Amino acid sequence: SSSSSLPRDQRAPAARLRVRQALGAREAAGEVQVQGWVRSVRSQKEVLFLHINDGSSLESLQVVADPSMESRDLTFGSAVEVRGKLVKSPHKMQTVELKAESIRVVGPCDTLSFPLKAKERHPLEYVRQFPHLRCRSNALGALLRIRSEATAAIHSFFQDRGYVHIHTPIITSNDCEGAGELFQIETSNETQKSAEKNHFFNVPAFLTVSGQLHLEVMAGAFTHVFTFGPTFRAENSQSRRHLAEFYMVEAELSFTESLQDIMQVMEDLFKTATSTVFSRCPRDVELFHKYVAPAQKGRLEQMLKNKFVTISYNEAVEILKQASQTFAFKPEWGCDLQTEHEKYLVQHCGEVPVFVINYPYDLKPFYMRDNEDGPQRTVAAVDLLVPGIGELCGGSLREERLPFLQSRLQRLGLADTYQWYLDLRKFGSVPHGGFGMGFERYLQYILGVDNIKDVIPFPRFPHSCLL
Ligand code: 4AD
Ligand code: MG
Repeated sequence: SSSSSLPRDQRAPAARLRVRQALGAREAAGEVQVQGWVRSVRSQKEVLFLHINDGSSLESLQVVADPSMESRDLTFGSAVEVRGKLVKSPHKMQTVELKAESIRVVGPCDTLSFPLKAKERHPLEYVRQFPHLRCRSNALGALLRIRSEATAAIHSFFQDRGYVHIHTPIITSNDCEGAGELFQIETSNETQKSAEKNHFFNVPAFLTVSGQLHLEVMAGAFTHVFTFGPTFRAENSQSRRHLAEFYMVEAELSFTESLQDIMQVMEDLFKTATSTVFSRCPRDVELFHKYVAPAQKGRLEQMLKNKFVTISYNEAVEILKQASQTFAFKPEWGCDLQTEHEKYLVQHCGEVPVFVINYPYDLKPFYMRDNEDGPQRTVAAVDLLVPGIGELCGGSLREERLPFLQSRLQRLGLADTYQWYLDLRKFGSVPHGGFGMGFERYLQYILGVDNIKDVIPFPRFPHSCLL
């Protein structure tokens, strides 16, 4: 072509392409440049094949080079910059490949000590030991791209429906759930004793366990609001379903008198976000549905088509009492549903998502609305239980009636602390409600991942690295 007869520095500069763009491109005339990490090196007598991955997609780009371009540093895991032409590939697996004109090793990789190995499908438990390197494995690469898409899908769901996004505080003085699972904040240069006398914020401060109370404030001005941020709970960090730091999606809706309206938003959010993720990163999702949880795909497709099941807490207890199975915790009206109970209920309903509504008053936090079906008997609460995980979402109508809320807070000795919250019931109070969905549990469910530590960017273990 005419450009190749020009002196090198007068030629059009190589267009930088991400691997995803290159794979989606047709044969292109100009010189392109691709940067990434080597996923495979295959050297034959006449030709050298490389696969380059830059995290933009699960698939790598095939590079075809002259064997003379091989070097000691050009190994699995090394960082490279390849210039060349995109040409139609004779191979069935891809439409284009990069015919290399030059290969530069930007950063070599000591393959002997590098914990990831070429051509191996490392189990999630194995790569979990390397929180700083596992993002370069296929599975975690796919997971983190899915997590990013799911985040965007959840934001769009609410933005498209007119909800205002609120950044609720991370440092707060309230214990919304009242469960005492709080991490307290102190400055590092004060001893424990002086910290107690002289709090940085003058009052005890904690990492948030939920943005709900702040959302209720905002729902009193914007009608529909949501937040999606980090949440902290000092509990059970060894379990497959609990984290000390996790992300929660929360929504709050004013002028809402029925729990069914809240449940409809939960179901719509779940279904819309899930189909968006499935259609936006099919290959990444396929990896999980092929190698991690082979039965999950069909079950989820079924689930997306059907309406979620609803049972009351009363019915749930009856179902459990009639079960032939013996439970470690005997089912009894007034007792919390244990994991074994949740599992049984989901199974009983046909391994589909199940809403359980109207829980005992005494089991639930102070903000839930009294159903007035007896003296403080049940509240308008809802939990969404899903197969394999248990509780995915929790929500309720909120007690919007000043006398009800006031007397409950007084009984708990919390009336002074929550004066500002009681104010909301004095100035234009409306029926309202909302819910929270655990984002990691959501990802676990749609991908069929057993351990919650495999759906977060940086897993943490006691006695190991805290990055
Ligand atoms: O049921 P929870 O405690 O509800 C609330 O905090 C409400 N204030 C939310 C609201 O109505 N705005 O938590 C909501 C969800 C749970 O259903 C669960 O999925 C998740 O958050 N969750 C956790 N996820 C991972 N690790 C933990 N330690 C979790 N604790 C709760
Ligand atoms: Mg809950």
